[in-house]
Amino acid sequence: MRVYFDYNATTPLAPEAAEAVVRATRELFGNASSVHHFGQQAKAALDESRSAVAALINGDPSEIVFTSGGTEADNFAIRGAAEAIEPTGRRHLVASAIEHEAVLNTLKALARRGWRTTLVPVDQSGVVSPDRVREAVTEETALVSVMHANNEIGTIQPIAELAAIAHERGAVLHTDAVQSVGKIPVDVRALGIDLLALSAHKFNGPKGAGVLWVKRGTRMQPLLTGGKHERNRRAGTENVAAIAGLGVAAQLALSKMGAEAARVAGLRDRLEAGILREVPGATLNGTREDRVPNTTNISFDRVEAESLLIALDLEGVAVSTGSACSSGTLEPSHVLRAMGLPAHRTQNSLRFSLGMFSTDAEVDRVVGLLPGLVEKLRGLTRKPGTPTAVSR
Ligand SMILES: Cc1ncc(COP(=O)(O)O)c(C=O)c1O
Repeated sequence: MRVYFDYNATTPLAPEAAEAVVRATRELFGNASSVHHFGQQAKAALDESRSAVAALINGDPSEIVFTSGGTEADNFAIRGAAEAIEPTGRRHLVASAIEHEAVLNTLKALARRGWRTTLVPVDQSGVVSPDRVREAVTEETALVSVMHANNEIGTIQPIAELAAIAHERGAVLHTDAVQSVGKIPVDVRALGIDLLALSAHKFNGPKGAGVLWVKRGTRMQPLLTGGKHERNRRAGTENVAAIAGLGVAAQLALSKMGAEAARVAGLRDRLEAGILREVPGATLNGTREDRVPNTTNISFDRVEAESLLIALDLEGVAVSTGSACSSGTLEPSHVLRAMGLPAHRTQNSLRFSLGMFSTDAEVDRVVGLLPGLVEKLRGLTRKPGTPTAVSR
């Protein structure tokens, strides 16, 4: 039995989305900018997807800009807004310390070009304090970027409050909602934000398709220049098949949202409770309140996370040590470090993220496997002369 508990890295395609991708690949080969029948067929598929994504986040279809994924959407949000606002003299950017690399490294790149940047810390529960954001934002701030849900621990940030704080000082609010869209209701109007990034492959759509939602009237410079695609906001012939798959994934997510969130949360909670009960020295990272329904992050005392990940993989169980982009390196998680966890806990944590195809049997399998694997690894690393008993 193979178990996939790494949905935050990427998700399997929903069968309906796969069908849409195949159909569009076979039948909708026209260039969506062409005026003839073939072009208009492709354009109709883009428009359908635009409406579906807009419905998922309560935006307007005209505010949807298709991108190659979450990374490009974050880059476009930050670089595009920064470049548009720069002539006003604002040259300061604010983000949380637990952002994805797509945001953090974009800020670093702009810092090399003279932008001032401030990273706002989080508390032990992994939530950004609005007061700390208020302290960081000044009349010089062009943009505040705080993710909606964190990819490693799943905590949901107080975006509506942060948007109000940014706006008080005339700054734009961008949220990276790559890990929340499709899992929990996301309403751009209720959040009161200006920019939102999402990515299809995080909610059972295809890879290489995403969106930057740009509130009407927000000043933006395009990242990619060229033709007049996407209302002059993103040049390049659209990836019609992937975008068609994105639209179907968005429709599915919207139609199943409540029931699916409850089902997945039930599985996640049972997995979490089982691990904390059965594995001595296991501790939950982050808060149980205000987090997406599919994610849990757990430290295993005196176990190297990479070794446990490999031991689980040998048993057919796929999990993650945190951000997929930093796996393969032994660097401690920047998210857990920002939460102030001691060094050993930042290096012995695993992320379990569930989704559409997760089952009770899979939860049972992982809860059954972990105590033995953890005990074995602790035995291998035990220093000579130390007692063998493990205290809870
Ligand atoms: C929070 C967050 N932002 C951005 C991204 C990047 O999205 P994509 O893989 O579509 O480029 C990811 C993916 O890992 C993510 O988790």
